[in-house]
Amino acid sequence: MLGIEHPIVQGGMQWVARAELVAAVSNAGALGVLTALTQPSPEDLRREILRVREMTDRPFGVNLTFLPTLKPVPYVEYRDAIIESGVKIVETAGNNPHEHMPALKAAGVRVIHKCTTPRHARKAQDIGVDIVSIDGFECAGHVGENDIPGLILIPATVAQVSIPVIASGGFGDARGLVAALALGAEGINMGTRFMCTQESPVHPAIKEAITRSSETDTRLILRSLRNTSRVWRNGLSGQVVSLEKEGAGIDQIGPLVAGAKGRGVYESGDVEGGIWTVGMIQGLIDDVPTCGDLVRRIVDQAHALVSGRLASLTLSGTE
Ligand SMILES: Cc1cc2nc3c(=O)[nH]c(=O)nc-3n(C[C@H](O)[C@H](O)[C@H](O)COP(=O)(O)O)c2cc1C
Repeated sequence: MLGIEHPIVQGGMQWVARAELVAAVSNAGALGVLTALTQPSPEDLRREILRVREMTDRPFGVNLTFLPTLKPVPYVEYRDAIIESGVKIVETAGNNPHEHMPALKAAGVRVIHKCTTPRHARKAQDIGVDIVSIDGFECAGHVGENDIPGLILIPATVAQVSIPVIASGGFGDARGLVAALALGAEGINMGTRFMCTQESPVHPAIKEAITRSSETDTRLILRSLRNTSRVWRNGLSGQVVSLEKEGAGIDQIGPLVAGAKGRGVYESGDVEGGIWTVGMIQGLIDDVPTCGDLVRRIVDQAHALVSGRLASLTLSGTE
């Protein structure tokens, strides 16, 4: 359906999924996904799409995330920039993309919708989405409000929809890929793992922080606003959680979680300088490979796992 070689997708990442990373992932035979809203305007997005095309002739997608923002976002203009640029794969997230479906479908775009519950997956299928990407509680960023870990969420979703399911949240290696396939998914989506690669545009100090962090070094913020997000465990995210416990509102919390501050972290490498998004999978990440090496390693080790350890279990079971 997506024209890719390996069943691996790089999820949209605000400030991170720029042309260099997207092209590197697609050149590795997986699906790179550009993040529309990282570009300040629809015109900038058109230029960024051209930059991806200069670096790869493989399929890639664009992520369009609908989230509550203080300043209104011209979503229709971003969508039209994607369509008019001839991009044929769009990943939507954050909210139901129903009002954009007719235009996307008319342009022959395959829509992957990312959500966090089987109920939302069913709804996505009902409005004509082609593929659902189901994000478990382990994931980086918006975990939703139902806290369903992948081990339950993936098979529950597969059981409730007939369209293909991509498993997302907590994936970073071959073991995860094989497990996702065993749970009924067609492939995996990874954010944090691709953020920690050579081609990822974040400061080396951020990559280094990911390699030394454990699975306990994330925190959930903004639960009190029903906009729960998994981020790195630093002083600032702790401060946000304390403020939430005291009943603070968006006026007090807003300035601490401002997007521009998070962006600054990726550029400066100052891990304490702002709120930044990362998933629990960081506990299993201990290197900074190229995207090509990463995808090759995952695919090779997945083949070895299936034909080695898992096959031997089947054999011993029948002897
Ligand atoms: C730095 C960062 C920024 C992200 N920004 C977005 C975003 O703008 N839109 C979106 O749909 N998902 C976003 N995500 C979520 C990823 O697309 C993906 O669903 C998630 O990372 C999967 O969990 P994992 O990190 O455990 O692989 C972001 C993730 C990271 C790590």
